[in-house]
Amino acid sequence: MCGIVGYAGRREAEPILVGGLRRLEYRGYDSAGLVTVTGPGAAHLRKRSGRLAALVEHLRDRPAPGCLGISHTRWATHGPATDANAHPHLSACGRVAVVHNGVIENYDALKRHLIADGVAFHSDTDTEVIAHLVGRNFDGDLLEAVRRTLPLLKGTYGLAVVSPDDPDTVVGARLGSPLVLGVGAGEHFLASDPGALVGYTQDVVYLQDHQVCRITADDWDIFDRELSKVTASVHQIEWAEEDTDKGGFEHHMLKEIHEQPETLESAMRGRLSDAEASAHFGGLNVDPQQLRRAKRIILTACGTSYHAAQVGEYLIEEFAQIPVEVEYASEFRYRNPPIDHDTVVIAISQSGETADTLAAVRESKRKGHLTLAVCNVVGSSIARESDGGIYLHAGPEIGVASTKAFTSQVLTLAMLALHLGRLRHLSALQGARMIAEMRALPDLIRRTLACDADARRVAEKYAGCTSFLYLGRQYLYPVALEGALKLKEISYAHAEGYPAAEMKHGPIALIDPNTPSVFLALKGAIHEKAMSNLEEVKARRGPVIAVATAGDEVVAAKADDVLFVPDVPDYLQPLVAVVPLQLLAYHVARIRGCDVDKPRNLAKSVTVE
Ligand code: F6R
Repeated sequence: MCGIVGYAGRREAEPILVGGLRRLEYRGYDSAGLVTVTGPGAAHLRKRSGRLAALVEHLRDRPAPGCLGISHTRWATHGPATDANAHPHLSACGRVAVVHNGVIENYDALKRHLIADGVAFHSDTDTEVIAHLVGRNFDGDLLEAVRRTLPLLKGTYGLAVVSPDDPDTVVGARLGSPLVLGVGAGEHFLASDPGALVGYTQDVVYLQDHQVCRITADDWDIFDRELSKVTASVHQIEWAEEDTDKGGFEHHMLKEIHEQPETLESAMRGRLSDAEASAHFGGLNVDPQQLRRAKRIILTACGTSYHAAQVGEYLIEEFAQIPVEVEYASEFRYRNPPIDHDTVVIAISQSGETADTLAAVRESKRKGHLTLAVCNVVGSSIARESDGGIYLHAGPEIGVASTKAFTSQVLTLAMLALHLGRLRHLSALQGARMIAEMRALPDLIRRTLACDADARRVAEKYAGCTSFLYLGRQYLYPVALEGALKLKEISYAHAEGYPAAEMKHGPIALIDPNTPSVFLALKGAIHEKAMSNLEEVKARRGPVIAVATAGDEVVAAKADDVLFVPDVPDYLQPLVAVVPLQLLAYHVARIRGCDVDKPRNLAKSVTVE
């Protein structure tokens, strides 16, 4: 949520800042701005509401000179998307400029205090109070001014600060909002996300909470809150520049949907052992005895990752016979459920920065539970703060609607279920069969993607509908929820997912000829029961778009439209069934003229509560 890029070096800062913001625009896109510094008294502030393109246009008329600067792309929290509310924000007389991610919870009290002291405010943001406070604490040493200011702030921040009166320095600080420092030769960077730095440097240092950093062209340092130097290790970003472009696709989302055969291969690489008929995870960091003793697992996540967790519940209960509960991270963090000490908490997050999930991890650790993470972004806060975990290795997910991360999460949870099952009762024969079935998946997903043209045709037929139901049972129930979420978030059509049999307890009242039901009717253990639910929809003249197993002419005859997927065992059905739903949502959104990669009101990585 919101993106920060900072630069100190010998090259012109403006194109580097804009290039970084372009990679981060999916983080927030209601306004963008930057400030560069060329020497004492010379700060060059440029900001515009709207997309990054509006700032780029503005910079064409008024370039920002200089080799040092900070920039920001905003997802509004305090105050609407206006030029005035765009970051950076300045202190009085422009002595200090600040960009900020996060929320300052006591900003109102601080602001009232500053106003009483004669400070004039120019925006509605919480960030502006930081600029004024740093400005008042500044006497030529920017690092010291930031140090004095931080204890006054209550809430979360990833900050980058510059001053024309300390013109060689960018200062950063982190509490609850991610910040990384990029190490180059004769240049250094700051960013809220390592993805912004791909192409500039591969070497990054992840700041921890309560750390402060300073970069100049020639040097970088990390400090604790008292400004004692801290030794920090430099990590390599594993993403390449081409991972962050659209690779010839019209949208990142479409590219990411089509990448799924490869991302599933990456998730499995080196993890499936024929010799042991099991799965292994290098980063799990847990003694197998401890996992054997687990009496309960809590899976916690938000949004799409929550739906993956719901599939995980079915998987782990079926194959490892361990009771699983799935909790929204936003609820789990504030609830006080009785949890016995043999409970393992597993947080699932693509970004590894979602504020609620991170808070759930901290709460679980505080209570002394073994806390693991399933994350995509290497070095992310959730990955670092958990006791151990599993990376998805799905590459950067830039489309705001999560697609490839979902399938990688589900497959990773299937591998985890296999691992846990093999520690308990699952036979070598069953393990070997699961491995073979999982290995076949990438090719099956390749075949599933062939339904793209059919998904587009179905989308054209129903794109005008304002309300959709998504129905599925067992393993396909979370997929129904995920399909509905995909459609509503990018096309703004109302969509609801239900367990198919639950429909007759209320939602059936919604069925009419203008309300299509997307019915997950794959062959499997309870196919016939699902078919009866499909008949109930048809009997009320509701159009049915079925997702069915290839060759299932019975479903094809009953449904108005059908999207076929390959035949796979029940527990892997979520992986093939979600693909046509992703494509359907994509095409409906495109036909409705929506901005697929940057849906309204949303932003990737929700780092505020
Ligand atoms: C939906 C979507 C969101 C995220 C949710 C959690 O397409 O992307 O619902 O799944 O914000 O994000 P992560 O997985 O990064 O914790």
